[in-house]
Amino acid sequence: MGVSGIQVSGLVKRFGETTALAGVTFEAARGEVLGLLGPNGAGKTTTVNVLSTLLRPDAGSATVDGHDVVTEPAEVRRSIALTGQFAALDEALTGVENLALFGRLRGLSGSAARARADELLERFDLVEAADGRVSSYSGGMRRRLDLAASLVDDVPILFLDEPTTGLDPRSRATLWDMVRDLQAEGRTIILTTQYLEEADQLADRIVLIDNGKVVVEGTPSDLKRSAGGQSCVVQPVDPGRLDEVAKLLDDRGPLSVEHDLGTVTIPDTEAADLSAILQRLGQAGIEVADLSLRRPTLDDVFLDLTGDST
Ligand SMILES: Nc1ncnc2c1ncn2[C@@H]1O[C@H](COP(=O)(O)OP(=O)(O)O)[C@@H](O)[C@H]1O
Ligand SMILES: [Mg+2]
Repeated sequence: MGVSGIQVSGLVKRFGETTALAGVTFEAARGEVLGLLGPNGAGKTTTVNVLSTLLRPDAGSATVDGHDVVTEPAEVRRSIALTGQFAALDEALTGVENLALFGRLRGLSGSAARARADELLERFDLVEAADGRVSSYSGGMRRRLDLAASLVDDVPILFLDEPTTGLDPRSRATLWDMVRDLQAEGRTIILTTQYLEEADQLADRIVLIDNGKVVVEGTPSDLKRSAGGQSCVVQPVDPGRLDEVAKLLDDRGPLSVEHDLGTVTIPDTEAADLSAILQRLGQAGIEVADLSLRRPTLDDVFLDLTGDST
């Protein structure tokens, strides 16, 4: 097996005064879903556009399925499909007409294009919508048709740029299942998203970027572990006694007191510590409304590292 998957090394891309990519380096193994996560303006789309040969980098290099994006763009394009945030669909045509058109553009005969269109409509749950104009489609239907269109050629590498932004939770879940199926068939997928939960659900590994730089990378569980252990959230019945609670427990590490929530959060707590905590509060006559353990989420990681939340 030769070099495959995706290797990105020191990518730089400037737009006038703006440095969109300031030296981005990462790899995606073949068959992996890599989540490219970051806030708006982080450089996700620019990265995907460089990898799909729509933009030339100012510095650095990248290979996609073993081909250099700058010196072998035609080979790269044969291996990839890109679905954008804004679907490249013809609103005036029906679903089936759009797919057949993509097939013809990709060099299929009329009947082969039509057969491929039917197959894709079936697969992406669009059979009933096939003869409706795209202008009448919901957001979820458009994204599914967009994904179908990108698969007219059965390529090994997919770039999905914010495929679920703006979708309702149900359409989002449907699309997640489709992404999982596409991976199960062996494809390498770069998925950009602003949704932490989406990256957590789908990505084997996450590369978090901010201001055109990779801030951290790892599996979702690595990243959560890096945000520390479980914490314990205590909510006294009487919010007026919060400071007292904090004082009683302050030997347990740096606490945070959230006056607006009426809670105190204790870091690095195990289930076995809970009874001792309750006992101490009980002895001081403090009634507890709620006591819970909380595992770090990707939100915590994101907040820690970018000082921002999505
Ligand atoms: N064609 C362009 N011209 C000028 N600036 C751009 C262009 N494309 C992107 N940028 C800028 O580059 C930065 C990264 O943008 P982008 O890659 O689209 O971020 P993301 O997809 O993570 O939201 C932003 O500051 C954006 O305004
Ligand atoms: Mg973008």
